[in-house]
Amino acid sequence: MDKREQTIKNMFSEIAESYDQANSVLSLGIHHVWKKKLVKMSGIAMGGKVLDCATGTGDLAIEFKKVVGDSGEVIGTDFCQEMLDVAPAKAKAKNLDIQFRLADASALPFDENQFDVTSISFGIRNVEQREMAIKDMARVTKSGGRVMILEFGQIRTPVIRDFYNFYSHKVLPWLGGVISGKPKAYQYLNDSSQVFPCGQDFADEIMSTGMYEKVSFTPLSFGIAYIYTCIVK
Ligand SMILES: C[S@@+](CC[C@H](N)C(=O)[O-])C[C@H]1O[C@@H](n2cnc3c(N)ncnc32)[C@H](O)[C@@H]1O
Repeated sequence: MDKREQTIKNMFSEIAESYDQANSVLSLGIHHVWKKKLVKMSGIAMGGKVLDCATGTGDLAIEFKKVVGDSGEVIGTDFCQEMLDVAPAKAKAKNLDIQFRLADASALPFDENQFDVTSISFGIRNVEQREMAIKDMARVTKSGGRVMILEFGQIRTPVIRDFYNFYSHKVLPWLGGVISGKPKAYQYLNDSSQVFPCGQDFADEIMSTGMYEKVSFTPLSFGIAYIYTCIVK
């Protein structure tokens, strides 16, 4: 693991305990709505097999498991043990049987063509070896299956953009810092989101890996975030 990967991992291990609370407050719970929408758009059905990468505290894995049911399978992976440690109790409280495993998204410990859907929410921006992760998620997904990516973007509509940027630059790092005691982590959230490629730019980057047949994208809440639906070759 290189220095930046280690820094990211340490950052998430430090905020793991307060991560869910901060997420709910900072997004006013909207991240749950976005995750449910991603699951719907993935086309997954009862009995499906899903891998959720960079699952963190497991929210997206939980949404998938609700849909695939007992006959389906959901595995959630992350490279930060402290984030993963929060997930099993949340799944158990909802009576959902989900496997959580330690794994780097850019070197997934799974054979080829295993999953109907592979997903990553608010994770790809943090992955140091991004191209490798985008390729590896396609590798473990069945041909014709979907890799679903949820990630922050940038708002382009003028007035709304100014309001959101004020919130994102000023309020979010401060409030995230108050809740977690780690203001740097929430400054990083704002800084990394501001520069992450979004919309067509990120779709082009995904297509350039040569692993996908087609990539489409859907802006959420004026472009605060995007869902990318990537069809595997
Ligand atoms: C912002 S959190 C998102 C967690 C969760 N998916 C969600 O939507 O709430 C980002 C997660 O990415 C994980 N992560 C970052 N780089 C990773 C990598 N290379 N492999 C696996 N997980 C990684 C972090 O440990 C962290 O749990």
